[in-house]
Amino acid sequence: MLGITAGVAAYKAAELARLLVKQGALVQVVMTPSAHEFIGAMTLQAITGRPVRDQLFDADAEAAMGHIELARWADAIVIAPATADFMAKLAMGAADNLLLTICLATQAPVLIAPAMNEKMWAHPATQENQTKLTAQGVKLIGPAVGEQACGDVGPGRMVEPAEILAAAAELFELGPLSGKRVMITAGPTREPIDAVRYLSNRSSGKMGYALANAARLAGAEVLLISGPVSLDAPKGCALTEVTSADEMYGAVMNQLDGVDIFIAAAAVADYRAEYVAEKKIKKTEDTLTVNLVKNPDILREVAASAQRPFCVGFAAETNDLEQYATDKLNDKQLDMIAANWVGDQQGFDTEDNALLVIWSEGQTQLPQQPKRELAKQLMTLIEEHYHAKTTTQSS
Ligand SMILES: Cc1cc2nc3c(=O)[nH]c(=O)nc-3n(C[C@H](O)[C@H](O)[C@H](O)COP(=O)(O)O)c2cc1C
Repeated sequence: MLGITAGVAAYKAAELARLLVKQGALVQVVMTPSAHEFIGAMTLQAITGRPVRDQLFDADAEAAMGHIELARWADAIVIAPATADFMAKLAMGAADNLLLTICLATQAPVLIAPAMNEKMWAHPATQENQTKLTAQGVKLIGPAVGEQACGDVGPGRMVEPAEILAAAAELFELGPLSGKRVMITAGPTREPIDAVRYLSNRSSGKMGYALANAARLAGAEVLLISGPVSLDAPKGCALTEVTSADEMYGAVMNQLDGVDIFIAAAAVADYRAEYVAEKKIKKTEDTLTVNLVKNPDILREVAASAQRPFCVGFAAETNDLEQYATDKLNDKQLDMIAANWVGDQQGFDTEDNALLVIWSEGQTQLPQQPKRELAKQLMTLIEEHYHAKTTTQSS
C-alpha cells in the first residue's frame, strides 16, 4: 500500500507507484484528503490500475474493502511523502483520516519517507515524533539533504523513489522466513495417453502461487515447481515448469538440497497411463481400456528423505475431509496438512477457499476468504510451527 500525504514531494509518489507496479506489487494508493492539493488521484489510478482510497467515511468503499480489511490486506505500507503533520498524528496514535486509521490497525511493516522544510524537520516536536515513531517500530527513510521547494537547503527533501523502493524491498527481507528456502509445488499434472490426449484435474494452481507469494513476502527464497497453469509467474520466485507427475518428481528431487520447508500444494495425478500411444488413438472400438500405473508419491518421498524439510501437505476431498486428512498426516509423517473440500464449485479453480489445518497436537479452521489472504494466514501458521520445531530440535 502506498500512502501519500500533503507535501510538495507528492508528485514523486507517482514515480514510486510506477516503480512498485513494475516490481510486480499490487499497489493500493491511500491519500490524505489534503494530498489532493498536490497530486491528482486520476494519475495514480492510471498507474496502479486501482481507484485511490481517501475517505474514511465512505459507505460504498466500506462495503467492498473496509478500512480494517485494507489494513489486513497490505503486506507493507510505504508512506511517501510523509508530512510533519502526518508524523505528529501517527506518533500520537491519531486516526482521523483513512491513512492514519489503516496505520493504526495494520500488522504490516510501515515505512515512511519524511519530506518537509528543513526548519520543520529540525523542530524539536518533529524530532521527538521521529524518535517516538522509531520506538513504535515504524521505519524511516531519509530525509535527504538538499535544496527544498521553498529554496532552503538542509535535511528535509524526500529521498528519491528508487531508494524508497529498495527500502520497501528490505522490509520483506527482514521477514520471519528470511534466510530460509521454501519449495512449493503447484497446479495440476498432465499424464499423456497418446500424442494429443492427457489425464489431468481441475487444479488452477492459484493456492500454490498465492503461497509462493506469501513465502516471498515472509522473506524466504522460494522455489516454485509448477504444473501447467495460466497464471503469471510470481515475482522473485525461482519457477520450474513441468508437465507430468514424473517431471515434477524429478524437479523436486533435483532441487531438494538445502530446502527448509516443503509445501506440496500441487494436485499431482496419482496414476499415469502404463503405455503412451505414439500416435493419436483412433475411434474404432466401442470401449477403450487404458491401463494406469501409480505415479511416484512426491510428498511421501520428500518426507522420508535424509534431508527431510518441514513438510506440509494438502488434502482435497469430496467427503470425510478431516478423517482423510488426519490419516494422510500420520501415514506420510507430515508436520502439517491443509485440508479443503473440493467439487461442487469449491476448492479447485475458485477465487476463495477455506482450509482446515491439522498438525499432530491440534487443528485450526481458516475461514472462507480470497486465496491470497488465506495463503498469508497459512504461511504464518507454517512459520510458527516451523520455528517451534527447529527451536525444540536445537535446544
Ligand atoms: C504549498 C504547500 C506545501 C507544503 N509542503 C509541505 C511539505 O513538503 N511537508 C510538510 O510536512 N508539510 C507541507 N505543507 C503543509 C501540509 O500540507 C499541512 O500540514 C497539511 O495539513 C498536511 O496534511 P496531511 O498530513 O493530512 O496530509 C505544505 C503546505 C503548503 C500550502
